[in-house]
Amino acid sequence: MDLGRRLPGVPRSFADSDGDGIGDLEGIRGKLDHLADLGVDVVWLSPVYRSPQDDNGYDISDYQDIDPAFGTLDQFDALLADAHARGIKIVMDLVVNHTSDEHPWFVESRSSTVSPKRDWYWWRDAREGMDAGTPGAEPTNWQSFFSGPCWELDETTGQYYLHLFSRRQPDLNWENAQVRRAVYEMMRWWLDRGVDGFRMDVINMISKQPDLPDGPPIPGTPYGDGSVATFFGPRLHEFLAEMHREVFAGRDADLITVGEMPGATVEQARLVTDPARAELDMVFQFEHVQLDQGASKWDHRPLRLTDLKASFGRWQAGLADVGWNSLYWDNHDQPRAVSRFGDDSPAYRRDSATCLATLLHGHRGTPYVYQGEEIGMANSTWSSVRDFRDIETLNHVAEATALGADPEEVLATLRPASRDNARTPVQWDATEHAGFTTGTPWIGVNPDHVEWNVAAQREDPHSVLAHHRALIALRHADRTVQLGDFTMLLPDHEDVYAFTRSLDGDTLLVVCNVSATPYPLAELLPEAVGDELVLGNRDHLPDHDDAVLGPWDARILRLR
Ligand code: NOJ
Repeated sequence: MDLGRRLPGVPRSFADSDGDGIGDLEGIRGKLDHLADLGVDVVWLSPVYRSPQDDNGYDISDYQDIDPAFGTLDQFDALLADAHARGIKIVMDLVVNHTSDEHPWFVESRSSTVSPKRDWYWWRDAREGMDAGTPGAEPTNWQSFFSGPCWELDETTGQYYLHLFSRRQPDLNWENAQVRRAVYEMMRWWLDRGVDGFRMDVINMISKQPDLPDGPPIPGTPYGDGSVATFFGPRLHEFLAEMHREVFAGRDADLITVGEMPGATVEQARLVTDPARAELDMVFQFEHVQLDQGASKWDHRPLRLTDLKASFGRWQAGLADVGWNSLYWDNHDQPRAVSRFGDDSPAYRRDSATCLATLLHGHRGTPYVYQGEEIGMANSTWSSVRDFRDIETLNHVAEATALGADPEEVLATLRPASRDNARTPVQWDATEHAGFTTGTPWIGVNPDHVEWNVAAQREDPHSVLAHHRALIALRHADRTVQLGDFTMLLPDHEDVYAFTRSLDGDTLLVVCNVSATPYPLAELLPEAVGDELVLGNRDHLPDHDDAVLGPWDARILRLR
């Protein structure tokens, strides 16, 4: 089983080598030593393909070229070679549920109802008995993930096309065998070039119920929830197995596949990641990042730790004998973990960031560290809607204000929840623009970079960065952390998260205080007092007490 740590990256926000304000491949190449120093095994690159950039590159117009904003294919090859020279793999983002509307496949498809590529996308007439273009005439009632309906009327032919995401991201029709063949050919081309695998964007949506039924109404909207018909459709496992046979089987290289699967249940993830079924290595599931959401992602609520434990515990147990977990707090779609699940106030930012990292890395599965998470980057300060760049955020603002919402109230919902929190530039140093660019950054740098940056933490043995380095080194060295069985302790405690990992008679105890309230460890977990501390986040502090779990205290102990 593959145990490496991945660092997902938004190239646009990582490092800019040419001063145009946009991060690029050469920028990443220039920072490989940072990744090697951290101990990263694999880098997951968010899309760098040619794209109109309607959705941060998740709208691809040419799968076999690099967007000029990021560089060239030659520069990609150089990045790959330099990463490999340091023992770092590179995993590409595979976005094949949809393309850009500028992709030649779609341009051809939309040109006429008899185009040879017409069936490569989902085209439908208006709802029976309704005139195309009138409200509610869309072929189904589904709501797009990016607000509004999932269907766009195309004037050329008078039919609608399906787009689960933006109207500039038409969904490919995987029922069509030519589509699948074209995708597999493209994937082989990248593997032949030397990439080490794929992170597959919303891959559980490639099979849809072909009769496209309406979904249950979403209260307060004119739409329905299409997920019943578009998540885990009837042919998903068949398609993934076919992809495995056509693309991955028989290759010598140690390749990695991870499928992003919103709505995945433990049972579905077990099937997808069961090695005997030869589909994918692991999935990204979303349960734990939805526990602090109400009716929508904009409805932010405090997390209850007991809910998090129940969720993680079920996933750990469910994938204990078959399949494999991926572990993450952050990625390019999630607000920053230290602000969301930790406490980013000056008193607790370092301790809560290191506590969350310890908790995550202690579980069984493959941990992902998102760019900037390794230094405790936090949500940014957003003074106006004009500061945001993300299409999901901006479409939501447009929809909510059109419905009469107060703009200040809408802004307040964006602050904790917008994906742009993850997309502010990586904070390399305290200089202007955080050392990210010499030009004007495409999105504002978080003002806290003057204090929170890589340079300030690199030599500090107690920094968030140093703690991540130590956690990754531990995962490399310790078989019990890698493979040990997981047992949840104290499932009902509101603040303390504790579990053991055991392998061949060796037991590690991970205990984390996910709060600022101290707890008497001797009472909670007597076995945790006096044992060998393998890694702690506060044991260097003068107020550290073996018997008391301090604020955001996190310990990995080896039980005797
Ligand atoms: C999931 C990606 O992670 C997200 O960033 C993107 O907007 C959607 N899929 C659409 O591709």
